[in-house]
Amino acid sequence: MSAVSLRVVREAPAPTVRPATLADVPQLEALMAPYVASGDLLPRSNYDLCRHIKEYVVAPAPAPTPDGGIIGCASLKIYSRALAEVAGLAVRSDFQGAGVGRALMDAIIAEARAAGLSEVLALTRKPAFFLKLGFQPSEKEHFPLKVWADCARCPRQNCCDEVAVVLKL
Ligand SMILES: CC(C)(COP(=O)(O)OP(=O)(O)OC[C@H]1O[C@@H](n2cnc3c(N)ncnc32)[C@H](O)[C@@H]1OP(=O)(O)O)[C@@H](O)C(=O)NCCC(=O)NCCS
Repeated sequence: MSAVSLRVVREAPAPTVRPATLADVPQLEALMAPYVASGDLLPRSNYDLCRHIKEYVVAPAPAPTPDGGIIGCASLKIYSRALAEVAGLAVRSDFQGAGVGRALMDAIIAEARAAGLSEVLALTRKPAFFLKLGFQPSEKEHFPLKVWADCARCPRQNCCDEVAVVLKL
């Protein structure tokens, strides 16, 4: 009779997401820095992060880490009664591919629905990630409030490689 070997498969715990607090700001800066350097995220000053901290959610590390352990973040910027933008979405590179980005987006979309918004836009160099979550391709010119707020003063406005995507709620 052949021996039956049982293998215990330990699944990683499901990512959790909570509202950000001012105490998270230094870690938010550290988390976003490499993606600001690569051009995937717009830079945000310490002042801007503190002023808009209530727009952010964060994903804590599954186990405590020496740096306090924020492994992901995202924010919801409201432009009007109908429209908001997902911004500052980042997952630490060693935690990517484990559902953290999806969990952050689920929290942001739930927040947008609860606020009674009707669409959420993103301007991104990673459209495939957003399409996977149900967003549709769009044109950034459809969002003049966003263009006025950010694009008009962006140094890359004439060589922008970001794609607009939108989720109807
Ligand atoms: C884009 C990003 C937030 C995704 O986070 P993540 O935690 O790796 O994503 P998840 O593990 O939750 O992936 C959810 C789904 O999207 C898919 N996905 C993730 N990144 C993707 C990408 N770049 N292109 C296509 N699909 C992607 C995953 O395969 C997964 O699909 P599945 O559920 O069928 O397995 C992360 O890669 C990141 O921080 N990138 C650098 C910063 C950045 O570009 N931010 C976006 C600015 S708008």
